Amino acid sequence: MPPSYQPATLAIHADDVCSNTTDVAPPIHLSTTYRYPSDPLQLIPSPEADEELTPEVLGTDAPLVYSRLAAPNASRLETALASLLFPSFTATSTTKLSTNVVVYASGLAAFHALLVSVVPKVIAVSGGYHGCHGVISLHKKMHGVKTVDLHASEEEWDKAGLGKGDLVHLETPLNPTGESYEIEKYAKRAHARGALLSVDSTFGPPQLQDPFAWGADIVMHSGTKYVGGHSDMLCGILAVKPGVEGDKRALEMRLERLFLGGVMGNLEGWLGIRSLRTMELRVKRQSKNADNLVAWLDGCIRGSITGEEADLVKHHVVKVTHSSLQKDSYLAQQMPNGGPAVFAIWLADSTAARSLPSKLKLFHHATSLGGVESLIEWRRMSDNTVEDTMLRVSIGIEDWNDLRFDFIEGLKAMDTK
Ligand SMILES: Cc1ncc(COP(=O)(O)O)c(C=O)c1O
Repeated sequence: MPPSYQPATLAIHADDVCSNTTDVAPPIHLSTTYRYPSDPLQLIPSPEADEELTPEVLGTDAPLVYSRLAAPNASRLETALASLLFPSFTATSTTKLSTNVVVYASGLAAFHALLVSVVPKVIAVSGGYHGCHGVISLHKKMHGVKTVDLHASEEEWDKAGLGKGDLVHLETPLNPTGESYEIEKYAKRAHARGALLSVDSTFGPPQLQDPFAWGADIVMHSGTKYVGGHSDMLCGILAVKPGVEGDKRALEMRLERLFLGGVMGNLEGWLGIRSLRTMELRVKRQSKNADNLVAWLDGCIRGSITGEEADLVKHHVVKVTHSSLQKDSYLAQQMPNGGPAVFAIWLADSTAARSLPSKLKLFHHATSLGGVESLIEWRRMSDNTVEDTMLRVSIGIEDWNDLRFDFIEGLKAMDTK
């Protein structure tokens, strides 16, 4: 694909190369096992333990053997994703970018695979999705990995022994608050001591943010969210920065995935391709909707918007957080097209926070995010690290004024109960 095509075009056509049928819609491949070539000369034996790994055996167009190693729907998804996740890289004669995208059964399966690949002795991490901390605690149990606060001083990182081969793991924008951190700053801090920077960019899908442009070595996504976009599939993604080291690591990850076993199901792989086609449209709309709603809520809370509705909001909503409210100058470059479609609000008390979701008609009271439908969650249901007055809001592709109206009606209903 010429590098000049825009993401909207790439999402439709980057995987045309995978098509070996005349179907316009990608076919669904369900087989777990594949017939070997009938020409004995084309039989490529699996690599010896000390043999160099190559894309010919492990890449997205390697001959199919068994679906725990590679499967057509997932490989096609990796091919399409590569065109979106590496906007600043072009394939060379030795690299095919799709090899550097590795999909997994879920976001957490991807994070586990990341730790299995890097085997850090120390991880700098703090806050963000609580599930990733659960994965880290499994690694603490297995081999005693240590953690240090991501935002701690250089002295504290020194004291923790964070150095070559270790991992700085930054989630931005952050779950559940929707606030951002400067990727470049953490890339510099990590690289200065020979550590790798991984970025969980789940809240910043390709239309919103390119962590590689700011120094990330490995980018992770829960593809369950914006890639899937319809709340009906689980998916995890690791994208490894192209280059000598990254290409080698990506091939190793592909081999390790065979033994971790956490591969995407065949149907999910197909759903992923289908969903990717509309990701650009969805994410743009969701981000714009969220920016509008956050500006409105914040305006009501701070008093720049006045009137009866604003009074109602101010009476109930104490605080709203979202990267569009941050004043940091790096954000205009890091997220030039708008903020994430998730933000958090705090209500006056826990009873109010528990009851608002069930007063709304257009927001499902449910966890997760990134789907076409708006969700609101009393976050204490799934996360024991947050205050019980917090609600996490994930904005869908509905009309934002309808969502605003629903919110006002919900607040009114709380007052009349
Ligand atoms: C930022 C972030 N990372 C990772 C995950 C885990 O993804 P999955 O649920 O696909 O395992 C989530 C899930 O909510 C998330 O929000």
